[in-house]
Amino acid sequence: MNTEEKKENILVVDDTPANLQILLRLFRDAGYRVRAVPDGEKALKAVESEVPDIILLDINMPGMDGYEVCRQLKNRDQFRSIPIIFISALSETFDKVKAFESGGVDYITKPIQIEEARARVKTHLALHRYQSQIEEKNQQLNKAMKELKEAQSQLVQTEKMASLGVLTAGVAHELNNPITYIYTSTLGLKSNVDFFISLQEKFNELTTQYNKKNLENFRQYMNDHDYQERLEEFHSLVANIITGAKRTSEIVKSLRLFTRLDEDDKKIIDLHESIDSTLLLLYNKYKDFIEVEKAYANIPPVSCYPAKINQVFMNILSNAIEAIELKDQKRKRELIHVQTGSVKENQNDYASVKIADTGIGIPENILDKIFDPFFTTKEIGKGVGLGLSICKSIVEEHNGKIMVDRKKNGGTCFNILLPLNTD
Ligand SMILES: Nc1ncnc2c1ncn2[C@@H]1O[C@H](COP(=O)(O)OP(=O)(O)OP(=O)(O)O)[C@@H](O)[C@H]1O
Ligand SMILES: [Mg+2]
Repeated sequence: MNTEEKKENILVVDDTPANLQILLRLFRDAGYRVRAVPDGEKALKAVESEVPDIILLDINMPGMDGYEVCRQLKNRDQFRSIPIIFISALSETFDKVKAFESGGVDYITKPIQIEEARARVKTHLALHRYQSQIEEKNQQLNKAMKELKEAQSQLVQTEKMASLGVLTAGVAHELNNPITYIYTSTLGLKSNVDFFISLQEKFNELTTQYNKKNLENFRQYMNDHDYQERLEEFHSLVANIITGAKRTSEIVKSLRLFTRLDEDDKKIIDLHESIDSTLLLLYNKYKDFIEVEKAYANIPPVSCYPAKINQVFMNILSNAIEAIELKDQKRKRELIHVQTGSVKENQNDYASVKIADTGIGIPENILDKIFDPFFTTKEIGKGVGLGLSICKSIVEEHNGKIMVDRKKNGGTCFNILLPLNTD
């Protein structure tokens, strides 16, 4: 369309005035804009002042010859794509190989055959036009691709922050339990300790003034203050504090393992540790209605980006919990089954993690869409539809695979394969 409106622009370079005249007339009559120059120096200047759509270039000219003009143009980025057709007299020795090597796209011979010259120019102009269009489209595609990648990495970041938000809430709740446990136990412990201190004082008095009556009083004091029960309570309160403190330290350790903020490089990790820490952080979300069954095999450690792999487990386990939550008729205890193992596929060894749930399941007709970005069946505000697409790109970044299966019981099973024996 545009090319119809804007006449195409031809530069003719020839040191023979008669030839220049013929070519000038020929292409002007055919509707092109034509400039004609008699030597190589002027040709380069003409190209600088306005870039032509095609150049017809004589080979044998005084001063700079056609090959040299062609070479110089091909060495400059902004002129490289201009198609150059060499003109050579049949009587001259013409090195075709040299012509193509220096960057020419074609040649015509003198005396000029009008129809042939016109046809060749037309063809190369069309080719050039298509090429420019393709290049332009390519640039647009590259730009779009770059923008898409930037958008994707921002989304991954957003998703990470969102799951961290969910996590912090869960962790805060999780920590609250054992800490309250510890706190109330220490209150009980304090009253017991006060009693034992008073008992110690009474015992000191008894040893300084020992007589039967004081001994009787001492025994009476012990009985009146439930010595035996207090002793038992003392032991159990200490045990409670130990349990609470252990649990607190487990949660803190899991959080550290999960976020792995200090680990941006690949690390050799134990996948079970990764799964366990993720499960622990999600505990509060599922503990009331889901049982987690683990069947861990003896698998070697895996080289990976730990925080990213944790994000994969977090997304898949969260989906499993949500799929069970969405069930109308829940069984008394629903199940998430985590099984690990190692498998060989196409001569490659993989660690495999299968996470199966007894949730609502995935209908057959959407099975091939669930890994697409923004595909979600959840209510607005509940799901963005990025979890699985992020899992897929993380797993593929590790040269692994992620697969999904519908289970006979109606639930879903994800299988994550991560290569073993990689650096
Ligand atoms: N375990 C599962 N059981 C049933 N359906 C699932 C399960 N896992 C994924 N899906 C389906 O795949 C869809 C896409 O999952 P994905 O994790 O990518 O997004 P989402 O969970 O909807 O939202 P987001 O994870 O971004 O909060 C879900 O909306 C759901 O329909
Ligand atoms: Mg999800």
